[in-house]
Amino acid sequence: MDDRDNKKTKILFVCLGNICRSPMAEFIFRRKVSRGGYEDYFEVSSAGTSDEEEGNPVYTLARRELAEHGIGCKGKVACKITEEMFAESDYVVVMEESNKMRLCVEFGVKMTENKVFKLSQFLDAGDPLKDCDIADPWYTRDFKTAYSQINHGCDALLSQLVRGLGLE
Ligand code: 4NP
Repeated sequence: MDDRDNKKTKILFVCLGNICRSPMAEFIFRRKVSRGGYEDYFEVSSAGTSDEEEGNPVYTLARRELAEHGIGCKGKVACKITEEMFAESDYVVVMEESNKMRLCVEFGVKMTENKVFKLSQFLDAGDPLKDCDIADPWYTRDFKTAYSQINHGCDALLSQLVRGLGLE
């Protein structure tokens, strides 16, 4: 790792399985970062709170939804969050409240303060989706709604981070 990598803001998206929502968020956010020309400032990855899908590729319907928006996710395989990944991240961004609770159980409430955020909390006050959970498309089968909500949250997250770093 070189000095520049050390200065990058590390964002880790987390869901339950790491085959639907968090990889969608990872690759949606990566594209926003590259379109904005911010590659030198952010490092983006994703993980699950469960090891059930470990080693599996992004779920077909999630991959298809990303592809419909011209976003690839080749090479991504699911992994469970490790203590090291958690410790090294600046922002651990979860999809729903239960993800946050799992992280509290695993890493302790104190460790999650100021580090774990729900994606929808970055939305403006008054936004109808403010603080909502991103419904799990594994169960709802609605990958379009998941994409749209994640995309909306990622826009809000990136603009907040960009503003915070004084890049605007
Ligand atoms: P994700 O969706 O948390 O958005 O990756 C799920 C994928 C798989 C399972 C649950 C949620 N599962 O139970 O296998």
